[in-house]
Amino acid sequence: MKLKKIPAIKTAHQLQEVFSGFGYNIPVASQSDEIAPGAKETCLGESIQWGSRTIGNRYSILPMEGWDAEIDGQPSELVARRWLNFAGSGAKLLWGCEASAIDHACRANPRQLVLNNDTVDNISSLYKEMRAAHRQKFGTDEDLVVGLQLTHSGRWSRPTGVIEPQMVYRHPELDLRVNGTDRHLMSDDQIDAVVARFIERAELAAQAGFDFVDVKHCHGYFSHELLSGVSREGRYGGSFENRTRFLRDVVHGIKTRCPDLGIGVRLSAYDLAPFKPGPKGTGEPVIVEGSYRFGGDDTGLEVDLTETVKFLGLLEQLDIRLVCITAGSPYYNPHIQRPARYPPSDGYQPPEDPLVGVARMIKATAELKAQFPNLIFVGSGYTYLQEWFAHVTQGLVENQMVDSVGIGRMVLSYPDLPVDLLSGRGMVRKKICRTFSDCTTAPRKGLISGCYPLDPFYKDKSEADELKAIKEVLAEDQSG
Ligand SMILES: Cc1cc2nc3c(=O)[nH]c(=O)nc-3n(C[C@H](O)[C@H](O)[C@H](O)COP(=O)(O)O)c2cc1C
Ligand code: SF4
Repeated sequence: MKLKKIPAIKTAHQLQEVFSGFGYNIPVASQSDEIAPGAKETCLGESIQWGSRTIGNRYSILPMEGWDAEIDGQPSELVARRWLNFAGSGAKLLWGCEASAIDHACRANPRQLVLNNDTVDNISSLYKEMRAAHRQKFGTDEDLVVGLQLTHSGRWSRPTGVIEPQMVYRHPELDLRVNGTDRHLMSDDQIDAVVARFIERAELAAQAGFDFVDVKHCHGYFSHELLSGVSREGRYGGSFENRTRFLRDVVHGIKTRCPDLGIGVRLSAYDLAPFKPGPKGTGEPVIVEGSYRFGGDDTGLEVDLTETVKFLGLLEQLDIRLVCITAGSPYYNPHIQRPARYPPSDGYQPPEDPLVGVARMIKATAELKAQFPNLIFVGSGYTYLQEWFAHVTQGLVENQMVDSVGIGRMVLSYPDLPVDLLSGRGMVRKKICRTFSDCTTAPRKGLISGCYPLDPFYKDKSEADELKAIKEVLAEDQSG
């Protein structure tokens, strides 16, 4: 498949035509003579009121872990560097910093950050350093809102480097992928214990100073998997009410124990079938008859937001306004979650133009925003827009299709992107993320994550040579 080359698109109109050729109507702001796209004079410079807190502009940094915490779960220098980069980016909402495991046993990798009684003081110090760095650079941090993402990796738990899945329902294909066919499912009592742990960890996050916790419901991890557990029996499976019991109980516990702590939810608003490489390496879906994916239709290939709308209605009832929309899972359908030109080592060649992945998420987010105008929506998956990042995201905010623009991979390659855009300077070409996926391939191969191609800090590390060697072997395997 021939993919549209983003740098070759020369006008906003051309990009709109490309989207419309794919069946999507996406507004793209044009360059005006006076104001550059994304500048502080545009809607992206406007603040958002969230209860008593003010979020100073429309840029958010999405949570991104680096597989580089200390082995005992403490934040390392590399974690600190990344978080301080986030704090100095110019974005006024830091959504979650990175997935922080609620226990060692449910880490997604042996170097994942853990929030517990031993680590909370160091995490709190880092949080304070972030606020101080932001204050120093921008004069104030009163309009900076910082959350911590709490996670249980569920099926994808790999606490010692070996997969140790904690699954909530059977899925023939996904069970195979985690060697889980013979494993017991988590019992209701075990899930009750996870509820209690989330509440305890939220208390620690409040103690550390965070404005909010993200009760993560995305990317195939534990609480997202619960949402698809229609085949599960017992108190946490089957009906919508049972599948959202975890959310309700955690939120109730947090509100009771730390009423001043804000709550947000990052949600995979839709999920599709798992994909795998076909004979030529291109992604192909693995359709499992009768399997339900939250936010997906019966074919496993299309979006159906019926239950997503119900879920957002529930968030509103629970008085949760802060929502970050994402999709699918990086483990079994990465192309719908982080559209990329080059796949990570455990991925597949794009089965569709990555612009379709971007547009699918934009459309779903806009549909949800239209139905829930009072919720604050943070969007994701914009990095693939590359030099058109500011034009498209400005168009979306202008048209109330999203409230805040989440930045993922692009902030790894270009840590001060919001500063540059807000100042009206525009983007520095050589810092634009070209979706090489090294930040995903490296940790899949046991190396620290980072932007090896574009961040000089990683370019010079020994891991860069290791990664190069690994990629050469992979390329040979694929060509052979
Ligand atoms: C290296 C890496 C680590 C990530 N870690 C997390 C994480 O800890 N929590 C999370 O919710 N999403 C995580 N994500 C997903 C991103 O937050 C984001 O949704 C995704 O990269 C798509 O946005 P983008 O197109 O701006 O990159 C990660 C993505 C990458 C590339
Ligand atoms: S390694 Fe760098 S350029 Fe590649 S996807 Fe990650 S952030 Fe982008």
